[in-house]
Amino acid sequence: MTQDELKALVGQAALQYVTPGDIVGVGTGSTVDKFIDALASMPQAVAGAVSSSVRSTQRLLACGIPVIEATEVQHLSVYIDGADEIDHRGHMIKGGGAALTREKIVADLADRFVCIADESKWVQTLGQFPLPVEVIQMAVPQVMRRFAALGGQAQVRAGVLTDNGHPIVDVRGLAITDPLALEMEVNQWPGVVTVGIFARHRASVCLLGTAQGVRTHTF
Ligand code: 5RP
Repeated sequence: MTQDELKALVGQAALQYVTPGDIVGVGTGSTVDKFIDALASMPQAVAGAVSSSVRSTQRLLACGIPVIEATEVQHLSVYIDGADEIDHRGHMIKGGGAALTREKIVADLADRFVCIADESKWVQTLGQFPLPVEVIQMAVPQVMRRFAALGGQAQVRAGVLTDNGHPIVDVRGLAITDPLALEMEVNQWPGVVTVGIFARHRASVCLLGTAQGVRTHTF
């Protein structure tokens, strides 16, 4: 199966976590695009979706799924999103699509985070994928120096501003052995909007697309 087919497989499989008539939290990315397509084909529709990006909002609306502002919702039963990496404890790196801040906000509303990913995302230790960090522009040089002090090589993502209007710094060379500690540390740095480590908001379930079918990990 191609990577695209694996993404479609887990996008479809995620429907088992969606209750008709409910409001669902929706992440961002090519895997989530497949989930949105599957959502649109549900015989009994959802009431709507809280979206984590302009990209997903546009796709949801194009599929006829009502989009509800996060500010209008107090609680979601489920949030469904992809990941750039996920480890055996459900910790993730996210933000390859630059939507990490809104993703964490919507994930925070949900009881359960269902991660959908193809098996290339499954890792022993986080950090092979460059760690995305959304940073307020004036703090970028200082944040990059702080990562250098930790042994990382930080680079501003060229030509990209997030939906919130901020640059993304991508950090290579970090072996993230304690994701929760690094998330807490980096979140304290002035000017950091969101670090793309999802440890406090780790996955509850991962649906992993493999050549043998969907492998389910529960954390
Ligand atoms: C966007 C994300 C995505 O979930 C992550 O980049 C995975 O994307 P894809 O499903 O396209 O591989 O965090 O900010």
